[in-house]
Amino acid sequence: MLFSEFEQNELDISSFSLELFTRFNNESQAAYLSRSVELLCDILHTRLGLLADLNRLKEEDFTVDEIALIDEIVLQAQMQCDSSNANNELNLSLLSDLIAYHDRGELGSSMDFDTTQRSRMFFDIQYAKASAKRESYWNTLFFLFNTSSTRRLAKTMLDGKKILLFGGGRSKLNVELNNHNINPDFLLNVDPFVDNLEIDSDEVVSFSAADSKLPSVLNQKSVNQVDEIWAEFSVPAYLHETNKIKILFENIHALLAVGGNARIWPLKVSGVGESSICRARKQMLIESVRWICSQANYELNLFKSAGSWGMVLTKLDKFNVSFTSKEVSLKVKNISTSN
Ligand SMILES: C[S@@+](CC[C@H](N)C(=O)[O-])C[C@H]1O[C@@H](n2cnc3c(N)ncnc32)[C@H](O)[C@@H]1O
Repeated sequence: MLFSEFEQNELDISSFSLELFTRFNNESQAAYLSRSVELLCDILHTRLGLLADLNRLKEEDFTVDEIALIDEIVLQAQMQCDSSNANNELNLSLLSDLIAYHDRGELGSSMDFDTTQRSRMFFDIQYAKASAKRESYWNTLFFLFNTSSTRRLAKTMLDGKKILLFGGGRSKLNVELNNHNINPDFLLNVDPFVDNLEIDSDEVVSFSAADSKLPSVLNQKSVNQVDEIWAEFSVPAYLHETNKIKILFENIHALLAVGGNARIWPLKVSGVGESSICRARKQMLIESVRWICSQANYELNLFKSAGSWGMVLTKLDKFNVSFTSKEVSLKVKNISTSN
């Protein structure tokens, strides 16, 4: 169905202009998806009430018009677009208000991390999994809703792609994606704290995502540049040494191919409250995002899912010099030496 075929009064929200869902020239896929999902949420909240938990909606909960609108978003999201120079200043300035704290204490072994495992799946929500009951990789890293057309979009986004999972635990995403006829080139799980893998678990590279030797360890496995990096409730939320947050972003920059996306959800650092160490971790996350955006033409998009903010960093194809990398690395150095 095309926009022009919609009767605006078929949707519950009469004041809403469907033209708003048209993709802008030069609007990246990540930017379009995060903008269109916000608009869609406004429509859904109007029908279901402001307190409705949209994360729990299943395909059968949508009206025919809403499904048609999601289909249209999927079509628009697949259009090719020329990337332009990203302007990240607004999103960078918002970061400090959006980064939250995650307090699970100082975990440092496989046994410790066993207690954090929620076995999140790519599409399916694990309703029985305590705090993770509203979360899947798709709805926290890509698009809030899971319908047959968004699964087709996932196929166009992921077929043939080289994917690194940072902190996947005992993930079985390869099997699940293949079951949906989605076939990445490879999907490797970089996680130093997993034992007792099951036969259908994703292959694990037992190494920290925040170790500066990660790129060379992966190079030895013939993994150089990848199209997607996913950190689902892993790093930076479980990094305790402030300096490791900086190394995480250096690794992302070293490993991400031009045109690739690094997706991180939630935007949380370890700790609770406003102690100096917590503030330093948060400040390091902000400066590291600022640093990576100065190293190439990255576009920073922010989105909210399951009550927490996340980010997508897309490495666009043109270099963007908004400020010198020397200035930024100096700032990062000042923070790392001050704690
Ligand atoms: C809460 S679990 C999440 C697991 C999985 N991503 C999910 O959503 O179900 C946190 C994961 O982060 C991993 N992790 C912790 N520190 C890490 C690091 N430095 N590098 C890579 N993974 C790490 C842990 O081993 C654990 O598997």
